[in-house]
Amino acid sequence: MSLASTTARCPIDHAALTGQTGPTGCPISAGAAEFDPFADGYQQSPPDYVRWSREQEPVFFSPQLGYWVVTRYDDIKAVFRDHETFSASIALEKITPTGDEANAVLASYDYAMNRTLVNEEEPAHMARRRVLIQPFTPEALVEHEPMVRRVAREYVDRFINDGKADLVDQMLWEAPLTIGLHFLGVPEEDMAQLRQYSIAHTVNTWGRPKPEEQVAVAHAVGNFWQLSGKILEKMRQNPDEPGWMQYGIRKQKEYPEVVTDSYLHSMMMAGIVASHETTSNGIANALKLLLQHPAVWQELCDDPSLIPSAVEECIRHNGSVAAWRRIAMRDATVGGVHIPAGSKLLIVMASGNHDERHFADADRLDIRRDNASDHLTFGYGSHQCMGKNLARLELQVFLEEFTKRLPHMRLAEQRFDYVPNTSFRGPKHLWVEWDPAHNPERANPAILQQQLPVRLGEPSKQTVTRPMVVERVTRITDDTVLLRLVAANGQPLPKWQPGAHIDIECGDTELSRQYSLCSDPADLSAYEIAVLRDPESRGGSTWVHDQLKAGDTVRIRGPRNHFRFDETAKRAIFIAGGIGITPIAAMARRARLLGMDYEIHYSGRGRALMPLLEALVAEHGERLHVYAKDEGQRADLTALLATPHDGVRIYACGPERMLSALEACTAHWPDDALRIEHFQTEPPTLDPSKEHAFEIELKDSGITLQVRADQTILSALKGANIDVQSDCCEGLCGSCETRVLSGAVDHRDVVLTRGERDAQDRMMVCCSRAAGDKLVLEL
Ligand code: HEM
Ligand code: FES
Repeated sequence: MSLASTTARCPIDHAALTGQTGPTGCPISAGAAEFDPFADGYQQSPPDYVRWSREQEPVFFSPQLGYWVVTRYDDIKAVFRDHETFSASIALEKITPTGDEANAVLASYDYAMNRTLVNEEEPAHMARRRVLIQPFTPEALVEHEPMVRRVAREYVDRFINDGKADLVDQMLWEAPLTIGLHFLGVPEEDMAQLRQYSIAHTVNTWGRPKPEEQVAVAHAVGNFWQLSGKILEKMRQNPDEPGWMQYGIRKQKEYPEVVTDSYLHSMMMAGIVASHETTSNGIANALKLLLQHPAVWQELCDDPSLIPSAVEECIRHNGSVAAWRRIAMRDATVGGVHIPAGSKLLIVMASGNHDERHFADADRLDIRRDNASDHLTFGYGSHQCMGKNLARLELQVFLEEFTKRLPHMRLAEQRFDYVPNTSFRGPKHLWVEWDPAHNPERANPAILQQQLPVRLGEPSKQTVTRPMVVERVTRITDDTVLLRLVAANGQPLPKWQPGAHIDIECGDTELSRQYSLCSDPADLSAYEIAVLRDPESRGGSTWVHDQLKAGDTVRIRGPRNHFRFDETAKRAIFIAGGIGITPIAAMARRARLLGMDYEIHYSGRGRALMPLLEALVAEHGERLHVYAKDEGQRADLTALLATPHDGVRIYACGPERMLSALEACTAHWPDDALRIEHFQTEPPTLDPSKEHAFEIELKDSGITLQVRADQTILSALKGANIDVQSDCCEGLCGSCETRVLSGAVDHRDVVLTRGERDAQDRMMVCCSRAAGDKLVLEL
């Protein structure tokens, strides 16, 4: 049956609802009418193909597909989050229904593919997921690392001296299959056949086989089904062997109603597909993308510590699962569009991953991107990919092997083709070439022994650094220098907002120090920071003053911003003490640009010792009030802030003494009025004798975890395979902010304002805890 004959009409009676009708009887736009996910445009780049939709019509009905298509990040996440309204039951349903002949062929193989996990409904799904998740936890995955390394090494050995290879055919198809089979506990024999069968399964489920192809596909799928059954029987003979399937067989004895026979047979087949093609395609997509950006590839080869974050960015930018499906169980609204009960939804994660509303400069490949792990390629919520950390492990090890052994490889001239389907996406071939005479291991065989630690779980921001060159060091007061830093690779730097800071790694001192950016955010060719020599410092500022000179390279992290500037406020009062002027300078410039009403109160030991003073006078004139101690001037904060005003924001940065005084004299101001930049907190210490254990319920994931008295919420989440971004881990940076749906929070961070704390609707999970016995979190 061709797709045209299955064409569905828009299920909404627009004429009755709005009186509006178009040529098709409903106001379906041209873009929606033409949308065809089997066409080359979608295959080559799903995010580019639906850019029009992201911009103009983020939820539309596709008459060719009979599905509602959702393309914006927030809308996709909302669909994933609400698993009761949007059921996953159609996730593996054939997107193009097969004809009678193919159905008869499938029946002749007793094909009875049933619910697995990914398409199972609650409450059965969660019960099963809970019973089967242990082998996917980071602790359990550690033991697979040597196997993954061995497989990657063996495949590269086969072609390293050839000078060219089709990486898909010669490695990327089979190696992840071998790894997947090991993980599942399947013997390695029958691999060649499994390969054919699993392609057929993709076409059968997500593709649009022509009528004449359908029968051949049905035979392959029928054979796949039967072979899966035979392998399962073999495994049942040795249920104590390692492997996820054997784990399931053992669990069946404990929970026969949860882990049924039908489930095990279906999962045997679905598990091979889930662990294999997604990862094969994922690695091929990542390598293709990196080699298309030779400067980025070079950077990764020069600094392989960036691999974990590069993996995450590649999964975001060019993931191997482009779209997924849900069915509406009741009337619902997505992105303001009415979706009638029974509608099918194609949610295009590849598009959400390029949504500018969530990812700044979304089309750019930025291997240091802060929030790359927010991507939707693994899905989200209760069905989120259980194998995501195995996939991350494989991608990291493979990239390490290639950057180490073939840093000089490049893409050969070629056209990339894809198996036409809505969901599983990766090039059929990936030809690369290199000069074997320059293989690094020929000159230095010792590189083969080098190994980087693998990061199980989402990458930590702690590890992501950026090399910068010191362009200029200018002494601006007796004890302050202004540093101008440019990117070592000459590329434009990431955007930043006033209030942002960077962390500088101070050479081999193992110290890292935070400095606010004080330059013009519009100038992305350089970052400027002012550094005061602090005699009390533990060495950070002394290192900057004594060691750094023009031409040196330093490593930075960030920029990050937890000193948020509210552009909608009516008026801003900026209060700075000494070097605390740096974030304030950037904010005040922004206020001036916006035409906001503002004033700056800047205190210091003496005019000659106050950084940036001259420039501030020139820029802000009478709005700047200067208090120089050596001239006997002192800011009277109590008088200045005597009368609270709605809509006024006070931003302050300076010595802790000044900040505490400010907190006292703004106690009668509205809760959100005062915003303070802190650069230090007391390092969090957990004294289990003073803490209590509590429970956290994760609403989106549908699970409940216990947080022990000696454990942070963050560590409990990571242990349960839940991705949460984190950086400082001490309540300073705001990276780990999580929404709280119910329960009282014992806030211990310095990020939230008083009003934000009192609202009890968000928390920093790295340090804050439950005040009572339970918290419900939106995770
Ligand atoms: C589910 C993607 C690798 C096992 C999923 C889902 C997606 C996905 C999109 C559905 C999520 C949802 O409905 O919210 C990927 C990608 C991978 C990958 C992009 C590689 C880059 C793996 C591996 C395994 C695996 C290596 C391991 C054996 C599973 C399982 C589920 C699943 C068991 C069902 C979870 C449930 O419904 O509770 N995956 N996957 N995946 N994946 Fe993966
Ligand atoms: Fe920085 Fe939690 S990780 S506030």
